[in-house]
Amino acid sequence: MRTQVAIIGAGPSGLLLGQLLSKHGIANIVLEQRSADYVLSRIRAGVIEQGAAELLDEAGVGNRMHRDGLTHDGIEISLGGQRHRIDFQALVGKSVIVYGQTEITRDLMDGRLAAGGQTLYETADVSLHQIEHGRASVRYRSGGVEQEIECDFVAGCDGFHGVSRKSIPEHVLKFYERVYPFGWLGILVDQPPVSAELIYASHERGFALCSMRSRTRSRLYLQCRLDDHIEDWPDGRFYEELRRRLDDNAASALGRGASIEKSIAPLRSFVAEPMRYGNLFLAGDAAHIVPPTGAKGLNLAASDVYYLWQALMEYYREQSTAGLDAYSARALQRVWKAERFSWWMTSILHCFPESSGFDQKMQRAELEYLLSSRAAMTALAENYVGLPYK
Ligand code: APR
Ligand code: PHB
Repeated sequence: MRTQVAIIGAGPSGLLLGQLLSKHGIANIVLEQRSADYVLSRIRAGVIEQGAAELLDEAGVGNRMHRDGLTHDGIEISLGGQRHRIDFQALVGKSVIVYGQTEITRDLMDGRLAAGGQTLYETADVSLHQIEHGRASVRYRSGGVEQEIECDFVAGCDGFHGVSRKSIPEHVLKFYERVYPFGWLGILVDQPPVSAELIYASHERGFALCSMRSRTRSRLYLQCRLDDHIEDWPDGRFYEELRRRLDDNAASALGRGASIEKSIAPLRSFVAEPMRYGNLFLAGDAAHIVPPTGAKGLNLAASDVYYLWQALMEYYREQSTAGLDAYSARALQRVWKAERFSWWMTSILHCFPESSGFDQKMQRAELEYLLSSRAAMTALAENYVGLPYK
C-alpha cells in the first residue's frame, strides 16, 4: 500500500488530522491498535476552546458539538466555602464549549466514514521504518498477516504510550517532566450538574471539581492519593467527601445517583522536544501531557494538528518545506504556554502533601489575589478560553 501521510493512532489528534487532510485532497491512512469501540469507551475531559471548535468546524464535524454542547461564559472557583465567578465574556469576550471528548471522537469517526477515509483498526505491532529521510514506511500485522504502507510522512498521533516517540533515537529527544503527588478520582453520573458552570474547589481536604457532560450528566472529581483504589471509594464515600469540599449551596444540590463510570488518573506534566525527527511528526499526547486542571489536553492536540495540517498543505501545494521545518518550534511555543497554565492551575488548587506552612500561605495568598484582581482573573480567563494559534 502507498499513501501520502500515514497517521498512527485514532484518538482525537489522528482523526482530526486525517479529516483535515482528506478534505484538502491529501491521501492518508489511520492505523489504530485498538478497536473503534475501545477508543470510544475512554472517558476524558470535555471543555473545548474556541480555536479547537473552529478547527472541528473546518474539518466538517462541528454540527453536533454546536447543537448539543453547552456554551460556558465562565467558571467558578470555590475557596473557603465561598464561590467566585470568573466571567470570561466580561474579561476577554470569549467562551468555551462543554462537550465530551468521547462525542468529538465519535463525530470524527462518523465524519471519516462519510468521507470514505481509511482507518485500520486492531493493527498489531506497528513499527516505523526509514523515517530519517527519503520514503518512510509503516509495518504492522492485521489478522496475523504482515503488511506495509509506504508514505511521504508519518504523523505520530498515538498518545503517551505509543510507538512513534519511542522510534526516535533517545539522544535526539529531550524530556521534561513533573509527576504530581496525587491523582484525580472521577465519576460519571446521570444527574444534573450542581451548578450551571464548572466549579473548581480549593479545600483543605483536597481539590474537587464539579463538571458536566450535558444538562443531565455530571462529571465529578476529587483529588485523591496516588495509592487510592477505586474499590475503596464506593459512591456513598465519594459523595460524602465531595460534599465536604463544596460550599453549602453546591453540597445541597449534589445528588447521590449511582456512578456509571469511576476511575483514578495520575497527574503529570510532560514534554518531549523536538516534535519532529526526519519524516516523523509528533502531535498531541505522543509529544506532551498536561495535568487535567484547566482541560488543555485535547485543545493542545488540536493546535498541534492545526500547525501540522498547515505545514503539510504548504508542502503538497507549494512544494515548500518551510512549514514542516518550522512545525516543532511553532507547536512547542504554544505547548509550553499551556503546560505553564495547567501546572499553575494545578499548583494553586491542590493540597500538596509535602508543602510547608510558608507554601500553604503562598498558595492562599495567590488564590485571594486572583479572586480580588481583575488583571489576575483576566490572565486566567485568557488562558482558559485558549491562547491564539498565531
Ligand atoms: N499503534 C497504533 N495505535 C496506537 C499505538 C500503536 N503502537 N499506541 C497507541 N495507539 C493509539 C491508542 O490506542 C489511541 O487510540 O493511539 C491513540 C492515541 O489517542 P490519545 O491517547 O487519545 O491521544 P491524542 O489523540 O493525542 O489525544 C489528545 O485527547 O485522549 C486525549 O488525554 C488526551 O486530551 C488528550 C487528547
Ligand atoms: C471534565 O469535564 O472531565 C473536566 C473539565 C474541566 C477540567 C478537567 C476535566 O479542568
